[in-house]
Amino acid sequence: MLLRCLRWIQTKVAQRAERLLLRILAVGPIPQHVAFVMDGNRRYARMNQKAIAQGHSDGFVALRRVLEACLRLEIRCVSAYAFAMDNFRRSPQEVDDLMHLAHDKLMEMSQHGQILEEYGVRLNVLGKTSLLPEYVQEAIRHVESVTRNNNKAILNICMSYSSQDEIATAVESAVRKSLENTDPEIEITEEDVAAQLMTSVAGSPPLDILIRTSGVKRLSDFLLWQCCENTQIHFCKAYWPEFGLFDFVPVILEYQRKCWGTR
Ligand code: FPP
Ligand code: MG
Repeated sequence: MLLRCLRWIQTKVAQRAERLLLRILAVGPIPQHVAFVMDGNRRYARMNQKAIAQGHSDGFVALRRVLEACLRLEIRCVSAYAFAMDNFRRSPQEVDDLMHLAHDKLMEMSQHGQILEEYGVRLNVLGKTSLLPEYVQEAIRHVESVTRNNNKAILNICMSYSSQDEIATAVESAVRKSLENTDPEIEITEEDVAAQLMTSVAGSPPLDILIRTSGVKRLSDFLLWQCCENTQIHFCKAYWPEFGLFDFVPVILEYQRKCWGTR
């Protein structure tokens, strides 16, 4: 009983300290759009003698935790790489587990009292959703329609996503739009393509920060166009399910330092 009481006090103190830290950070410049390559779920699972599916499930818990920290900081848009088109090459069992996890968590997040409602977040699923099983597509339609009028923040869940595919589709759309004009000259500018990217159509601001966990230093076909001149890219050693405030705060501080440096 005493031990449980002490644990409760410890949790409450830690939560208070976290909130205070986020409030202090929020006084400085805050990025508008932060993206995460949530890598390392399977290595985390192996390291902790857990099943791979449990590693992905713990990865979702980390996503909710990190999203909440972002929302408290009033970051307007968060993008998360949940399933690359290339991930279809994994074992049928792992793909099936990931699809069921996505379905269950999207449905859970669409419920009243959950994080999306609490913080007024619109959820968009970006990628070739037609490649996903019908039951996942149905969950996507549901959560997107339930959160459509939320206007305080945006969560982009990217699945089944490929940046090269996104760019090719954006170029195609820009050309189609241009063909609608009567002018026989076709001129496609960078802005025309950028406006057709899935992130832009979903209302996302320019990407300020991209973070990849697990020590791997690659972009893996994620937001290649969006990573432009001003985007800060951070590679962090923690496996995604373990990624926490102690990994995130230095990234925000570095962003603030650079913003102040350019003033
Ligand atoms: C990469 O780690 C992670 C994934 C392929 C899946 C990420 C998915 C989640 C965190 C949950 C998604 C939640 C929703 C709502 C869709 P890895 O499997 O490549 O691990 P490794 O690098 O250690 O092999
Ligand atoms: Mg990986």
